[in-house]
Amino acid sequence: MKLATATGTVNGRPILSDAEIKNVLDGIGENIITDKQFSKVLERLISTEPGYPGLTQRELLRVRDVVFNETNAPVSYPFLWDIAQSDYVQWNGIAHNYGPGPLGRNAGEVIGVFGTLDWTSYKPKLPSLSAFLTNEKNKNEVINFKSSIDITNLHRLESHLKTLKSPEWPQEILGEIDQEKATRGQLIYARYCQSCHEVVDRNNWDRLIVADMSSIDLIKTDEAMAENGVQYSGKSGNFKHTVQSVDSTGKVIIEENAPVAQILTSATKGVIATPDPDKMFIRRWLDLLYILVMSLTENDIPNTIKNGNYKPDTMSNPYDSLLAYKGRSLNGIWATAPYLHNGSVPTLYDLLLPKKQPDDPESGEYRPDRFMVGSRAFDPVKVGFRSEGYNGTPFTTSRRGDKNTGHEYGAGRTPQKNGETLRALTESQRWDLIEYLKTL
Ligand code: HEC
Repeated sequence: MKLATATGTVNGRPILSDAEIKNVLDGIGENIITDKQFSKVLERLISTEPGYPGLTQRELLRVRDVVFNETNAPVSYPFLWDIAQSDYVQWNGIAHNYGPGPLGRNAGEVIGVFGTLDWTSYKPKLPSLSAFLTNEKNKNEVINFKSSIDITNLHRLESHLKTLKSPEWPQEILGEIDQEKATRGQLIYARYCQSCHEVVDRNNWDRLIVADMSSIDLIKTDEAMAENGVQYSGKSGNFKHTVQSVDSTGKVIIEENAPVAQILTSATKGVIATPDPDKMFIRRWLDLLYILVMSLTENDIPNTIKNGNYKPDTMSNPYDSLLAYKGRSLNGIWATAPYLHNGSVPTLYDLLLPKKQPDDPESGEYRPDRFMVGSRAFDPVKVGFRSEGYNGTPFTTSRRGDKNTGHEYGAGRTPQKNGETLRALTESQRWDLIEYLKTL
């Protein structure tokens, strides 16, 4: 839809007319907008000079919402131990970890958290590695991919990650583990949990953490994050009509409006293949070469398809497999509240309870629909951070993006992988299972 139509009207007056848009975008690059040009666009949008729209703050926000994808599905920081040993990472399993995968993931993450992309286009005289990797070969102009992303340091950080292992429950501080209860809990775990959450020895340096995906239709936890990853799209700029390989389905042509997953993939490839402009010429190429070679040779993660119960990608829906969340080994899980990808459940005990549905009796035990976050005080009983009785930031679970539904395996509501729904755990079984989870 055209921008003028999409932004609509305020008090019967269009926010932006076609003529105003033309003035605002006068002299601005068609495929690549530099930082400076972006500031100019903003200045012109609020300018009250004749011919410019003179937007108020509110109208500007409205334009923002039309142009940009809304950031409405915040996720909980995942723990970093076992990441370097995992076959797939990210809550929706979007990033594989073989070959240069970690480098791409780290560069992509920095782009996501405000790394600057100071891109301009130029007419290449010599073949360029980044233009080759992003398939810009046939373009008249290519992107220079200059950015603030420091590939050398990202590679160092990734090497550090490999040395991490999960923390053990400190019995001297948080209390002794009751071995009898834990042993009973282990049996429950084997039946109710282990098919998706493998038990892995934290001290094994050769460990491989295999992700186990569950489609959102089955697990029914909040869908927003997974859906955004597949449905959000944007202007592809200079990547328009370049060719990209998609893991399991073959090649796609990037269109003018393209899924963000495609744009981010090309952006990261270009950034990784671009030497650091702040370094001397020879050093910048040697460093880059070293890192690319190391990331290919140092990495033992095999190149495999994802495990689990999820919809496969198809020709017409090449990203269906991303409508799923990742289950993985629960080592050190005691230390990582709040739980689920969106941090919507404050403690392990609460995760074993059902989400209250409208026809459930008032008297039952349910997951809290509202709790406090921000405390660093640990709750060693329910296992999580203290989530009530202090003045923190309230977390409510009603909004899409923050819902605490699904993953009710302990509450007799979510079927296991084989389709069977196991009986809800009793209160004493829940406490046995918690005791075992402390030992992981
Ligand atoms: C059919 C697969 C499956 C079964 C069975 C299963 N889980 Fe999960 N689990 C998952 C998936 C997938 C996620 C990620 C869901 C999300 O974040 O939306 C998850 C998330 C979790 C988390 C949160 C992890 C985090 O970092 O916040 C915990 C804790 C957990 N599961 C414990 C359990 C326990 C305990 C059981 C048994 C009572 C169990 N799970 C049974 C698939 C499963």
